[in-house]
Amino acid sequence: MSTDAPKPIRRITVPQIAARKGGEPIVSLTSYHAHTAAIVDKYADFILVGDSLGMVMHGMDSTVGVPLDLMIMHGRAVVRGTQRALVVVDMPFGSYEESPAMAFRNAARVMKETQCGAVKLEGGARMAETIRFLTERGIPVMAHTGLTPQSSHVMGGFKTQGRDEDSWPAHEADARAVAEAGAFALVLEGMVEPLAARITRQIDIPTIGIGASAECDGQVLVLEDMLGLNPKPPKFVKVYGQLGGMIEQAVKDYADEVKARSFPGEGQVYR
Ligand code: KIV
Repeated sequence: MSTDAPKPIRRITVPQIAARKGGEPIVSLTSYHAHTAAIVDKYADFILVGDSLGMVMHGMDSTVGVPLDLMIMHGRAVVRGTQRALVVVDMPFGSYEESPAMAFRNAARVMKETQCGAVKLEGGARMAETIRFLTERGIPVMAHTGLTPQSSHVMGGFKTQGRDEDSWPAHEADARAVAEAGAFALVLEGMVEPLAARITRQIDIPTIGIGASAECDGQVLVLEDMLGLNPKPPKFVKVYGQLGGMIEQAVKDYADEVKARSFPGEGQVYR
């Protein structure tokens, strides 16, 4: 047998992400379909199939209406399109809060039907029992605290967390509770920098920031936001590409050429 055969690419594992605490920053982006995931896969340590897909891909006003089957469909596409990054799939609103048993049933479906490596769910101390229940039964959990979009109706919108110092102890207690319950990483969303720094120092799992400053152990952004496809991105997004304008120009050029009968041209015709 030839020894020159290329080695199979191994996916980054949950323990490898957990071991990055305090080390080289963890890189992550969301992705919802196979072709963008294949590009992100080359550079990201984990890819998040976030329930933001309800708003970004399906035009919903919030993530509250996202069904489990939709997460599974997009999760499967992302796993198929990738080979290297850990794929983490969001548990949507209503699929895990009622009881640990319900969370296990639905998270097991997500793991089996998508072949992803972990799930993410929102909530701090109130979700600790569920996180323990899942991790003890073989389902790795990434936690998500701070601004939790699934609770936007309770929070009264998408509000930056920790502006009032009196709220810090509760946020810190949430982070400690999910870490102690066995979460392997914690997404901190929409949070003032000093609070994110305090939490990152207090827990021994990596924090992944989105609008929570460079004090976190890693960063995640919604891919479409950083590519310039969102006309009104949140303040914390840095726009690295202007795909919205590029797509519009390409579509306009195509429409103009169809109308002028210059497309299809010589190169696109079967003779
Ligand atoms: O759904 C999502 O994209 C997320 C990120 C904002 C962390 O949860």
